[in-house]
Order: sequence, then C-alpha cells, then structure tokens
Amino acid sequence: MTLYDAAQKVREHAYAPYSGFKVGAALRTASGAVFAGCNVENVAYPEGTCAEAGAIAAMCAAGEREIVELVVVADSTSPVPPCGGCRQKIAEFAKADVQVAMVSLDGVRHVVTVAELLPGAFGAGHMDRA
Ligand code: THU
Repeated sequence: MTLYDAAQKVREHAYAPYSGFKVGAALRTASGAVFAGCNVENVAYPEGTCAEAGAIAAMCAAGEREIVELVVVADSTSPVPPCGGCRQKIAEFAKADVQVAMVSLDGVRHVVTVAELLPGAFGAGHMDRA
C-alpha cells in the first residue's frame, strides 16, 4: 500500500462534523513502517486535532521517532498544507530535507521539504544557554 493509499483510507475515518473537512495523513519511518492519522474535531473547537498530529502520535506510540516521508490527503481544489502547529510537530521528527506531499482527491500533488514548510524553525539549538 502506498503512503497515498494509507492517507486516503484513514481520511475516511476522520471525525469532522463541524468543519465537514476530512483530512488523512500517512507517514513512513526510518524502519519502513507506516503510521496514519485523521483529524478528530471536538464541540469545543480548539480541542480538535489535525490528521498529521494523529499520525505522529501513532508513530510515537509504536516507539518510533523518525519520519522519512509524509503524505497529506484532503478533498480540496488545491493541495492542503499542514497548519503552523503541525509544521512544528513534523519538524520535531523529520530532517529538513524530508519530503511532504500534499495531495487532493482529484490527484493534484504538491511536494515540499520540511525546511520549506518551516523556514527558520525553532529548534533545540536555540536553547543552548539554558
Ligand atoms: N486539518 C488537518 O487535519 N490537517 C491539515 O493539514 C489542515 C487542517 C483539519 C483541522 C480541522 O479539523 C479541519 O481540517 C478544518 O480546519
């Protein structure tokens, strides 16, 4: 199964009664394992979580820590980019050159690197005086 297939499949399980906007994300780790997640909304809106966050949580729960590829799938005219918070979450576990593919259900695909998603990212090195 491709990462796209995994993201598309998990997207169908998204819980998005408030936005109506279902998102699926699938990532591959350094070991070759695939982890997937969907957005899970909440009536208290800020408590909702993004698909990317779900996939990252599944990865960590399995004891893995290194993302080597990530795909985000949504039903949109143009490919959906990860939100700001998810960019930081992705950068925690992916090197700067890792590719993030955003794909719409009609097949429009846009690929960027983690560095392009989050230029000037805050990292552990910024706390070197702590
Ligand atoms: N959403 C994601 O899950 N991932 C993204 O990359 C963009 C936005 C979700 C959050 C919310 O449930 C819905 O899409 C609308 O913002």
